[in-house]
Amino acid sequence: MKLWGGRFSEDTNQLVLQYTSSIGFDVRLLPYDIRGSIAHARMLATSGIITPEESRSIIDGLEGILRDYEAGQIEFRLDDEDVHMNVERILTERIGQVAGKLHTARSRNDQVALDMHLWARDAVKALIDGVRKLQQALVEAAEAHLDVIVPGFTHLQRAQPILLAHHFLAYVWMLLRDERRLRGVLDEIDQMPLGAAALAGTTFPISREAVAEELGFSRLYENSLDAVSDRDYLLGLLFACATMMTHLSRLCEELVLWSSEEFGWIELSDAYATGSSIMPQKKNPDVPELVRGKTGRVYGHLIALFTVLKGLPLAYNKDLQEDKEGVFDAVDTVLPALELLAGSIQTMRIKRDRLARAFVSDFSNATDLADYLVRLGLPFREAHAVVGQLVSDAIGKGTNLAGLALTDMQARCPLIQEDVYDVLPERAVIEARASRGGTAPSAVRLQLALIKEQCGLS
Ligand code: ARG
Repeated sequence: MKLWGGRFSEDTNQLVLQYTSSIGFDVRLLPYDIRGSIAHARMLATSGIITPEESRSIIDGLEGILRDYEAGQIEFRLDDEDVHMNVERILTERIGQVAGKLHTARSRNDQVALDMHLWARDAVKALIDGVRKLQQALVEAAEAHLDVIVPGFTHLQRAQPILLAHHFLAYVWMLLRDERRLRGVLDEIDQMPLGAAALAGTTFPISREAVAEELGFSRLYENSLDAVSDRDYLLGLLFACATMMTHLSRLCEELVLWSSEEFGWIELSDAYATGSSIMPQKKNPDVPELVRGKTGRVYGHLIALFTVLKGLPLAYNKDLQEDKEGVFDAVDTVLPALELLAGSIQTMRIKRDRLARAFVSDFSNATDLADYLVRLGLPFREAHAVVGQLVSDAIGKGTNLAGLALTDMQARCPLIQEDVYDVLPERAVIEARASRGGTAPSAVRLQLALIKEQCGLS
């Protein structure tokens, strides 16, 4: 008979059973469910609600189930619906009727809320670890390539040269925001729901404080209705994951572009690339492509949970069971993405020789020529127009700005002198951008020191 079977006289329809059962996906909550139940059983005894012997027998039973679960020796039953009732059924088989005392002063509604808080806390900590590893990989790549200059883009058109390290570090700042967002989610999770019971609290003299203390929570939900119906911390987790995937997806797009023959900036290591079943020459960036491709499902989970929550009356509704698969999948999607990208970055080769030739017949020093004219006294708008004409002249002659003769330049602006050629090489262009946060090596070295300090990286 079902745990709740008392008022029923007919068996549940088989399809109803399958449709309402969550054991297929909430089984991963088992270690958290057991930890929560142990804290609850201990508190029931210290509050005088069950005897110390009853508590001992329940806790021993639960510990045994956890051990057997870890050894893969537990069989779950669909008709026990979810992880909570499966554990209770197994506990009853093992220790007898005393198992029935565990659910005193508790409901599955506050139990599942507690389980999700405990799971989410671990998930967020694992995500923070993953973020830090990727930050570290990017910082190391930046430090190892402080001398490499690459074209910087707007509209994916060459704009101004930048340090490759500067480009890498932009992602580290994004990841620092991701990390801070995750720490904010940890704070949201740090609130203990057990003791709300079904929705209104309990008639038993429980100590919610004792349970919170044992499980490492610093605050209690102070409203039992809120305790069983709050999923904001999961929205926060999904938002943090969705934002992070946006960052990872942008990085991945660049890795895909950069590893193409057309860019030719990097080569992914063999260990992080894949081949083609028909074209023997191919080396494909499948990992960045898939991370980019998986971003959509994480966005989807965020919208799905918003939609689940938006029309729910207080307090618990079965709709809330739909919170799980999405957050589980989001975390299962982001965690390997972080690890794989860290590995890809650590092992990829930067094609320095190819990048050294990147600025032949390039006009990304045009702004610097305009700035040069401004220093000679021209208003910036006028300087812009003159350089536009010089670019056009150079294209007509099949050269770049440095390839124009001084007399050709003076024909457009007589103020121009021989020293114009000093501002045109890409190295000079880079070094001139020493404003705070700019791409000059001096500014990037300062930036590196700041980001390492703020991320707590060595
Ligand atoms: N499996 C349920 C969930 O995930 C547990 C809570 C069920 N509570 C209830 N009253 N049916 O939401």
